[in-house]
Amino acid sequence: MKIGIIGTGAIGGTIAKKMAAAGHSVKVNSSGDIDKLNARAEELGVVAATLTDVVKDVDVIILSVPTVAIPTLPKDLLANVPENVIVVDTSNYYPFRDADIEEIKDGKVESVWVSEQLGRPVIKAFNNLLAETLVNGGKESGAKDRIAMAVAGDDIEAKKVISDLINDAGYDAVDSGDLSESWKHQPGTPAYCTELTAEELKQALCDGVKEEAPSLRDKTIVDLSSLPSYPSHSDVVEYNRGLFQKNPKSV
Ligand SMILES: NC(=O)c1ccc[n+]([C@@H]2O[C@H](COP(=O)([O-])OP(=O)(O)OC[C@H]3O[C@@H](n4cnc5c(N)ncnc54)[C@H](OP(=O)(O)O)[C@@H]3O)[C@@H](O)[C@H]2O)c1
Repeated sequence: MKIGIIGTGAIGGTIAKKMAAAGHSVKVNSSGDIDKLNARAEELGVVAATLTDVVKDVDVIILSVPTVAIPTLPKDLLANVPENVIVVDTSNYYPFRDADIEEIKDGKVESVWVSEQLGRPVIKAFNNLLAETLVNGGKESGAKDRIAMAVAGDDIEAKKVISDLINDAGYDAVDSGDLSESWKHQPGTPAYCTELTAEELKQALCDGVKEEAPSLRDKTIVDLSSLPSYPSHSDVVEYNRGLFQKNPKSV
C-alpha cells in the first residue's frame, strides 16, 4: 500500500520503519526543517515529503502528532484527498502536554474530536501500545502471546485494511467498535499500554469505565513522574496493569 505519515517521532517513525520493512511504500513529513526531515526519513528507510505531498496519491494517511498539533495542520490539508483514503489517528490526549482542550476534558472521545477537527472520518489505531512495545514487542502472526492492538472506527472495511497493517507491524488487531467507543483504549483504561493478547484485550475493552479514565490517566503521570528515577518499560506496563482491580493479564 501507499502510506503517508505525518509525525516521525517515537510512534510515527516506528510505524514508518515497520511499514517500509513489510514492503509498503512510505513517505513522511514532520514539523521540523527539511534537513532534519531528510535525515530522519533516511534513518527510517522511507521518503521525505512536503506536507502537501505526503497526503497525495496514498491509500492511507497516518497522523502521529500530539493531539494539540492537530488543529495547527492546514485547514485544507485533506480537502483534495479522495474519500476512500483512510485517515488514521494515533493520538492520546494528555492535558499536561496538550494543554486544555475543553471538549475532550468535558468527555468528548479524543478521536471523535480529531475527526471533527479534520472534517472527515478517522480510524483510531496504534495508540494503545507504548512506543517501546511498538519497537520491540512485535511477533509473527500466530506466535504464542502475540500482543494485540485495538482498532476503532465507523468503517468496517477501513478497519480491516488497518488491521492488516497492524498485523504487518507484528501485532494482532482487535476491533474495539465504532469511533465513539475508542475511549475504551484511551489513557486510563485497562486496554491502554498493558500489553495484552487479543483475548485479554477483548476483555479489557469491556472492563474500562469512561468516567474514571481521565483521573487514572492523570494519576499515572503524577505517580510515575514522582518516582526517584524514570521507571523501566516493564515497570510502566506493570504499573498500568496494576491500576485496575481486575488485572486484565490475569483474565
Ligand atoms: N510515545 C508513546 O508511547 C505513544 C504511544 C501511543 C500513541 N502515542 C501518541 O501518538 C502521537 C505521537 O506520539 P510520539 O510519541 O510519536 O510523539 P513524538 O515522539 O513527540 O513525535 C511527534 C511528531 O509529531 C511531529 N509534529 C508535531 N507537531 C506537528 C505539526 N504541527 N505538524 C507536523 N508534525 C508535527 C513532530 O515533528 P518534529 O519531529 O519535527 O518535532 C514529531 O515528528 C501522540 O499523540 C501520542 O500521544 C504515543
